Amino acid sequence: MSTYRIAWMPGDGVGNDVMEAARIVLDAMKFDAEYVPADIGWKFWCTEGDPLPPRTIEILRQTDCALFGAITSKPGEEAAAELAPELADKGLSYFSPIVRLRQLFNLHTNMRPCRAYPGNKLNYRDDIDLVIFRENTEGMYGGVEFFPLPEKVYEALCANPKMVKWKEKGLENIALSTRIMSAQGCRSIVRQAFEYAKANGRKSVTLVEKPNVLRETGGLMTRMAREVAAGYPDIPLWEANIDAICMWMIKNPQNYDVLVAENMFGDIISDLCAGLVGGLGFASAANIGADYAVFEPTHGSAPKYDGMYKVNPMAMLLTVRLMFDWLGEGEMADKLEQAVAAVILEHRVGTYDVGLENTTLEVAEEVARKLV
Ligand code: IPM
Ligand code: MG
Repeated sequence: MSTYRIAWMPGDGVGNDVMEAARIVLDAMKFDAEYVPADIGWKFWCTEGDPLPPRTIEILRQTDCALFGAITSKPGEEAAAELAPELADKGLSYFSPIVRLRQLFNLHTNMRPCRAYPGNKLNYRDDIDLVIFRENTEGMYGGVEFFPLPEKVYEALCANPKMVKWKEKGLENIALSTRIMSAQGCRSIVRQAFEYAKANGRKSVTLVEKPNVLRETGGLMTRMAREVAAGYPDIPLWEANIDAICMWMIKNPQNYDVLVAENMFGDIISDLCAGLVGGLGFASAANIGADYAVFEPTHGSAPKYDGMYKVNPMAMLLTVRLMFDWLGEGEMADKLEQAVAAVILEHRVGTYDVGLENTTLEVAEEVARKLV
């Protein structure tokens, strides 16, 4: 029997390409695992009306963790239009399977390192080394939404006098997406950020919020962050508004270290920070819960490159590195990161985004050769 059972979910588009690349490196490292293929993604929405079929959830329950390539997500109407004809009038509505997975398995912490590896010509600056902690199950992406606005929900919302003005627009014209945050969720994500900072000698934790406008949710997060921070007197808590941090990240990204944010703000700063260290081709991510984790690069499925083996596999390989770390295979994690760093530094083999002409798989093979 293998030491680990890993759910294997290529998902959509270039998810397949980068997962193949991951496999080259995993095999080269003789990682002792059984890979259990699991269906997820657009194809299963179109043909079965469910992008995350129950059989996949079953597989996840029987594995140690999952590796995931990428997912295609489209807004409601476009999604409905692509359903198989026999499913068209069943009242199905599309919800992103990765967001659902995060909620279903309570993968509350999304950890996203953004490091400027030496020699990466796409680095905005060479001294950037950030780690984002994104709350992953609550907030703006919690999935509690309405359109049209049901009468009952409207009435309940009228507990706040500001609600009254929406009535004259007609409830059939009102869409509502909620931002629901709990003290537990806020505390937990901030604690993860501080624990990571402490364990890794990081200098500061920056809370990204907007409490001057989002007074209740932003206010709660800010209070919880201050409360948690009090337990880490050696690590300062900085507070920044989401709009301001987008500017500061362009001006002085080297001043920041660990960032912590609610779900949507974390999503936004993830892409921003990825852009500073070479783009989504270098941005790895881990969705972590108490006893399960799903590892997926930050990038999407890039349908126009599907099957062309064009995209940069480094994000996926660095994601495998996060998986090694989570499994307690620290030596393998370091070895893989060093090999990735060596290929980047040499700048001899690379994909189109770094100005070279190799395929996704050739880059993975080069990383495999650099493993020592
Ligand atoms: C991400 C992605 C997802 C998200 C999408 C695909 C639902 O943008 O992981 O950052 O917003 O969480
Ligand atoms: Mg995103």
